Amino acid sequence: MTVDVGPISDFEERRFRIVQAAGHEIGVLRWQDRFFAVHNRCPHQKGPLCLGVVSGRLHGRAPGSMEVDDETPVIACPWHGWEFDLERGRALWEEGYAVKVVPVRIQGGRVLLELGGGAVASP
Ligand code: FES
Repeated sequence: MTVDVGPISDFEERRFRIVQAAGHEIGVLRWQDRFFAVHNRCPHQKGPLCLGVVSGRLHGRAPGSMEVDDETPVIACPWHGWEFDLERGRALWEEGYAVKVVPVRIQGGRVLLELGGGAVASP
């Protein structure tokens, strides 16, 4: 099922917008003109994941150094701080945990979510 959640212009850069789609709460993020969408439900204890802090992924190549990979957005859950890669949904510390990722497509200036079956939803 494809759900139209609005025009691209409705999505601020680097800020999650939470929409209702097919009976789910989905967080949609615009990041450097790419779009990511995940369920707003942390796999740890079901916290509101998309209300957390978004940043680029941090890397340390050597002791005492740290760099931000701005190509890879990461969300930190507001409840206990678990971090998830928004491209794959995997937790950074343990890939066995993952938030559900929703494929996003842009067509005719609109943001479209590709969801499984369920009821039609609204943004
Ligand atoms: S509920 Fe998200 S880290 Fe615990």
